[in-house]
Amino acid sequence: MKKRTVFVLLTSVSLLVAGAVQANGEGDAAKGKVVYEGTCVFCHGENGKGEIPGTPNFTKADGVLAQDDAVLISHIIDGFESAGSAMPMPANGGNPDLSDEDVEDVLAYLHQAFGS
Ligand code: HEC
Repeated sequence: MKKRTVFVLLTSVSLLVAGAVQANGEGDAAKGKVVYEGTCVFCHGENGKGEIPGTPNFTKADGVLAQDDAVLISHIIDGFESAGSAMPMPANGGNPDLSDEDVEDVLAYLHQAFGS
């Protein structure tokens, strides 16, 4: 009985710590999946390999997701066009309702689902 109480206590403490870490800037991949499916999937595709010409393949090991998170966040928020690109990435994926938190969440999802 006693051991069980200690176990339950420890589990709650670690859950609390995990929650606090998540609130401190790390994105929530589960929420990010919803953002991805609502805003990004039309161009970037379910499998992250790109639905339309000009979109990068997110699953490539040394691809765009290997960049610094700060760079990726700013490219998602402000939009981005690489040299000789067939099409630019629209600011916030073209969705004016996207918050900075949504962007952190969707980036966490990109890393979880596609790598780097
Ligand atoms: C209308 C189509 C479209 C939508 C919607 C879109 N993207 Fe993109 N995205 C692109 C294109 C095209 C590129 C490549 C731009 C280039 O290299 O010039 C790109 C590039 C990127 C890159 C790589 C940037 C870099 O540094 O090379 C990331 C990350 C990205 N998109 C994330 C997202 C996320 C997250 C969303 C949803 C919030 C989203 N995109 C929605 C078209 C889109």
